[in-house]
Amino acid sequence: MKNIKKIYLYGNLKMNMTRGETEGFYKEFDALAKEPPLAEAMGKTLEAAVFPPFTSLCAAESASKTCTPGLAPILGAQNAWFEPKGAFTGDVSLPMLKDAGCTHVILGHSERRTIFLETDELIARKVKAALDAGFVPVFCYGETLQEREGNKTFDVISRQLKALSALSAAELEKIIYAYEPIWAIGTGKSATSEEAQEACAYSKNLLAEMGVKSAVVLYGGSVNPGNAKELLSMDAIDGALVGGASLKADSFLQIYKGYAGI
Ligand code: PGA
Repeated sequence: MKNIKKIYLYGNLKMNMTRGETEGFYKEFDALAKEPPLAEAMGKTLEAAVFPPFTSLCAAESASKTCTPGLAPILGAQNAWFEPKGAFTGDVSLPMLKDAGCTHVILGHSERRTIFLETDELIARKVKAALDAGFVPVFCYGETLQEREGNKTFDVISRQLKALSALSAAELEKIIYAYEPIWAIGTGKSATSEEAQEACAYSKNLLAEMGVKSAVVLYGGSVNPGNAKELLSMDAIDGALVGGASLKADSFLQIYKGYAGI
């Protein structure tokens, strides 16, 4: 394979996939992942992760044990509460997610911010708790259509990233950042590669000012096998956080294949 950068391919399954469907996903994923040249890329130039809903995490963990050694995707959750346990009806803690086999956790997804009214402050608290519990937080941020049209994109990115400024540089370095413009999520209308590049490059500069030497920044919002190559070839974009196109192992992995030309 030609000289290509490492791609982070993260699948946010959202509120989809029963336990049985999750098992089916893993079977298909393994069948595809063990075929060369994908098998050679797995864990090297491709870091794949899946984020199933809470009820399917244990099924995902069991299914990953049946995958070809070294080829199972990383397992993560889509959200968590910051307290370790107690009277928080309806929520799930980080130690519970660790017990279910997760190493990563998505925090601050725009659907949590807009539908569940999570604030910058709450999300920062969750990110700190996730880091303290040894997780890799996948921190999502991005502007609404109205904010973009009002030329507020960079102000919003700046506000959302600076909400993490109480963290040390070493902590900020451990986070995976996912720039997801809200108008591009689930709409089929991805940002152009230039728009995504501009926002991710801006984020990296800002994170550098906050002391992060080499931030990993993913783009998310209607990424699919058709637009993957263009988006992932941009130098400020380290990978993709994928919703809709991650629901089938085939289209999910096609995103990497499209980029790598395999
Ligand atoms: P989408 O979702 O790929 O379906 O637009 C991305 C996300 O919300 O992470």
